[in-house]
Amino acid sequence: MQDKNSKYETLKESIRKHDYNYYVLDDPEISDSEYDLLFSELIELESLNPDFITPESPSQRVGSTPLDSFNSYNHKKQMLSLANVFSEDELIDFFTRVNKRLIDIKSYKVFCEPKMDGAAISLIYINGILTTGATRGDGIKGEDVTSNIKTIKSIPQKLLLTNKYLMPSYLEVRGEVYISKEDFIKLNKNAFLNDQKIFANPRNAAAGSLRQLDSKITSQRPLSFIAHGIGEIKDIDISSLDEFFTMLKEFGLPINPLNKKVSDINGCLKYYEEILKNREGIPFDIDGVVYKVNNLSYQSKLGEVSRSPRWAIAHKFPAEEATTSIESIDFQVGRTGILTPVARLKPVKVGGVIVSNCTLHNIDEVKRLDPRVGDTVIIRRAGDVIPQIIKVVLSKRPSNSSRVDIPNKCPACGSSTLNENASDWVVVKGNNNQQIKKFGSEIEANYFISKEANDYSVKEIKNKAAFVKCSAEFTCPEIVKGNIVHFVSRKAFDIEGLGQEIINTFNKKGFLKDVADIYNLKAFKNELMEMDGFGQKSITKLLNSIESSRRVNLHKLIYSLGISEVGEATSRNLAQEYTSIDLFLNADFDHLLGIDDIGPKVASNIINYIKTDFAKSLLPRLILELDIIKTAEVDIANMPLNGVQVVLTGKLNNYSRDEIKENLILKGAKVSSSVSSKTNFVIAGENAGSKLKKAIELNVRIYDENEYESILKNPSKYI
Ligand code: IVH
Repeated sequence: MQDKNSKYETLKESIRKHDYNYYVLDDPEISDSEYDLLFSELIELESLNPDFITPESPSQRVGSTPLDSFNSYNHKKQMLSLANVFSEDELIDFFTRVNKRLIDIKSYKVFCEPKMDGAAISLIYINGILTTGATRGDGIKGEDVTSNIKTIKSIPQKLLLTNKYLMPSYLEVRGEVYISKEDFIKLNKNAFLNDQKIFANPRNAAAGSLRQLDSKITSQRPLSFIAHGIGEIKDIDISSLDEFFTMLKEFGLPINPLNKKVSDINGCLKYYEEILKNREGIPFDIDGVVYKVNNLSYQSKLGEVSRSPRWAIAHKFPAEEATTSIESIDFQVGRTGILTPVARLKPVKVGGVIVSNCTLHNIDEVKRLDPRVGDTVIIRRAGDVIPQIIKVVLSKRPSNSSRVDIPNKCPACGSSTLNENASDWVVVKGNNNQQIKKFGSEIEANYFISKEANDYSVKEIKNKAAFVKCSAEFTCPEIVKGNIVHFVSRKAFDIEGLGQEIINTFNKKGFLKDVADIYNLKAFKNELMEMDGFGQKSITKLLNSIESSRRVNLHKLIYSLGISEVGEATSRNLAQEYTSIDLFLNADFDHLLGIDDIGPKVASNIINYIKTDFAKSLLPRLILELDIIKTAEVDIANMPLNGVQVVLTGKLNNYSRDEIKENLILKGAKVSSSVSSKTNFVIAGENAGSKLKKAIELNVRIYDENEYESILKNPSKYI
């Protein structure tokens, strides 16, 4: 019996340790199947010896019977909330107040943490065993949600033994229960596929999950925990926050790896900038950072005021959402002729900048949102993402409002408009069980079921849109100007000094009616010089840049023409196939179809372009101005990186991305933008994000900038 019992204890300890490695350290030492084996051994032992079972056994994470209601829980020490600041000035005020109260203290350290956007909880460990988990409630009284807290795998049910600290007889740890961004997406996708309710955001999902009466439901939610505060501790003397967190770590509790101790306000501001800059890549939602006086006796000295400590402050990130109103809705014509609806807004500050325009993307979006002039709208600008209208506040809609008219004439040239549909999707999930509705059905605006290679898949439609296009494909002034902008852009002719504004001005003056006119601009040198904002120096620079652009590779020329759906990669394939511009201009449909990556749609776009009167009159004039480098006959099959797929990601220090791309392509590699199982290797620079992560997941080889040099020197070693 004794033997079995010690085996039981060892087994529990071992599972606990593996839970800690997996859920807290994110560094498992054994495979999932080895873990499952240990767990089934535990279950077997417990079923043979039910009297062994202790409440903190790893098998007891999920309770067997749902509760009728939660008991309320009185917090021993009030759970405070944080006051906020939004600016450097307000932060200076905060530290001035702190300094005044700590007048006789020479200096003090500040502990910085991300401000997690989850649900606050309190955990009570008695003699190292988790006995209670409670929600914050109003800070004085919360709810006892112990049965749900026990299901959270990163919360130890028993603290790890450590020889650094005595096991305290009583320890209260406070922290945040949250759902990571990645888990949240999975949770919602599953909910969607199973016809369940979609959660609004990770915070709501976390808070809602904690309040389930049936802990089986909670156990299916991907909840995590990070500790951020001290409740009551007995038996151990702790003098500072960083000491407290070091101790928690020893006990096996998860603490935030982004925490940092700094010496002054400048350190705080640096921390704020750093976290804000990396916000996107942080795996959970945060809405700011928190600064806390590190020393606990200084904290007591400072005390609290109206439920907030005087020793801590939240420095919030700029609000990412704001309310404003729509003043008008216009349609803009781009290079491709597509009319893009744009809402002109009453200017409002959001995400730290003033926003007065907001794209409505396409006609479908206009139909879906139904934004109207005079409407009150909520807009969102997260990080560098362009502002979006996320909601029209219907209750505030003016009574005389009307739907946006979809133009049947181009606003730039008055020509009639054409309607087109386009969609572009990515596979979200492939499976064989045909669980999901009928093949071929659209299950929600953004999802579609299709059948691919005997595999039923739910496809997420990335760009499903109805477009309205100007029919004057080559004469509409906006399309013409857009084409010039594209022609001079960096990846095309790379002419410096010809920005959008200048193109508009020159176009208006009649100097620049199409791209061939670029090479005749020098004839207008005197006129240009007299124009506002142009000096001798800028004109000379521009004309020099134009001159040096005359010598051009065939693939760049093809790309620069701006033929619909002919991007850089297709242009390279075309240049490889046709080798000279004359041959390309005589391409026929069937021949085009035989080229890599060219399908009927692109082939017909090319034929339509080269057969137009527009191209027939423009191209001979343009070609006369250029010195086109024919594509060398290359033996693709014998290129050292032939067939090798590479993805570039992150910030590279010594090379530009284009340079690396060009060099790899010259050796026969294919450079693509997303990592898949077909990717041979990834070249990753600093701050690489999701692509690097995907590469790790898919076990794709990863090289850095230095290794890239060796790849070029000795490609065969890398394939
Ligand atoms: S400290 C007295 N630290 O913010 C200090 N709170 O308004 C109170 N929160 O209810 C908590 N991240 O849910 C602290 N690193 C962090 C936090 C944090 C998020 C939440 C917490 C609390 C609320 C305070």
